[in-house]
Amino acid sequence: MASEDILKSELMSKIVSLCKRRGFIFPSSEVYGGLNSCYDYGPLGAELKNNLKRLWMEAMTREHDDIEPLDSSILMHPKIWEASGHVANFTDPMVDCKTCKARFRADHLETATCGQKPSKTPKTCGGELTEARLFNLMFKTFMGPLEDSSAVVFLRPETAQGIYVNFLNVMTTSRQKIPFGIAQIGKAFRNEITPGNFIFRTREFEQMEMQYFVKPGTDEAAFERWKEVRLKWHIGNGLDPKKLRFHQHGPKELAHYAKAAFDIEYEFPFGWQEIEGIHNRSDFDLKQHEKFSGKKLSVFDEATKSNYVPFIVETSVGCDRALLTLIVDAYREEAVAGEGEESEPRVVLKFHPRVAPIKTAVLPLMKKEGLPERSQKIFDAIKKKYRSTYDESGSIGKRYRRADEAGVPFCLTVDTEPGTLTVRHRDSMKQERISETSVMEYLEKELGI
Ligand code: GAP
Repeated sequence: MASEDILKSELMSKIVSLCKRRGFIFPSSEVYGGLNSCYDYGPLGAELKNNLKRLWMEAMTREHDDIEPLDSSILMHPKIWEASGHVANFTDPMVDCKTCKARFRADHLETATCGQKPSKTPKTCGGELTEARLFNLMFKTFMGPLEDSSAVVFLRPETAQGIYVNFLNVMTTSRQKIPFGIAQIGKAFRNEITPGNFIFRTREFEQMEMQYFVKPGTDEAAFERWKEVRLKWHIGNGLDPKKLRFHQHGPKELAHYAKAAFDIEYEFPFGWQEIEGIHNRSDFDLKQHEKFSGKKLSVFDEATKSNYVPFIVETSVGCDRALLTLIVDAYREEAVAGEGEESEPRVVLKFHPRVAPIKTAVLPLMKKEGLPERSQKIFDAIKKKYRSTYDESGSIGKRYRRADEAGVPFCLTVDTEPGTLTVRHRDSMKQERISETSVMEYLEKELGI
């Protein structure tokens, strides 16, 4: 491995270890040795994820009067997946190694690692590979007591289909008219052949998907508009714009349902990768559901006095992947001059204050002279509005370092100066003194929420 690649892979290991150490993300079922590619979100991870989901849903519904929320079920009628094309087409080509019995995606052989010879790929390790075979990525289970083919149901591989089959329900109950959209956040499951890169590709994940229903002929303009809106959302969450770009799908990359597609990609330590897909799905899905259900899914056009099946522009971002992007983008190691008695380089997560899981840490300078009592009062007032922590254990330098690793934008240190406290800014480490009575006003201004 080239030295730059080693540094990049070390960076990912450091991020994974920080996530565990600070309670962002734990391996699932850890006491049993873990379960491949499954993860649990700890206290900070759960807060960060909730912030991300809230920001997405607010950006979709509050900023767009023509978008309605939905929460559809994970298990749906099995015919939905025949109609959507997932039973026939949601496959990856896979090969098996006859020597080490490992399984690889046939289209990822150049970048995969041989399990027995980690410095080699499955193409160069000398193992004999089988011909490529298609492998369906949907998880199957049985509904009810019988485990036969009539009871098979699937765990949804995308949330989108729950939106399509509810499209007329939502339109009529919310009195929307074309163009309008439906936004949904929920779990999706894919039996990925090669999950990896921490929470980047897992078998259970959450998607935040919005389907925008438009009149045919207006789809391309809507597609362009949503591309820009979505890119801006990621930048607004604090991501470095230089690490974001669009990637247009070529004819061979297009999903079976897509007329056109762009990915928003982020430059991870393991390379440029998709974080969000924007698809022009044409009228493919609704027409397929009309065909398989026998029900009309068209709308009446007053202008032409005729019915049409709307086109759909989809924006689809993985919540876990977007969260990983926020952590990777925020991660810094900084050699800094001593702060208190701490002179080690500091690790800091420079989250945008809006996404930061914890907004303030209230720290009494000492555990005497009434400072804990005063600090507790301040903490009690702040926590009504902002998720905050109270920390009185260890030196002040150590407490600043803990708050930095958790990405807390503001530490509020209470010392013996009556009626005031100091605000220590995470990014610059600068301190300023403000009056105790102005704390809430100060935070509202600084956090913008
Ligand atoms: N409804 C369209 C759809 O599902 P996709 O490009 O397959 O499109 C959309 O997925 C987004 O879902 C991706 O950009 C990614 O953020 C997320 N995603 C897909 N597969 C994933 C996986 N195995 N693990 C984590 N996130 C995943």
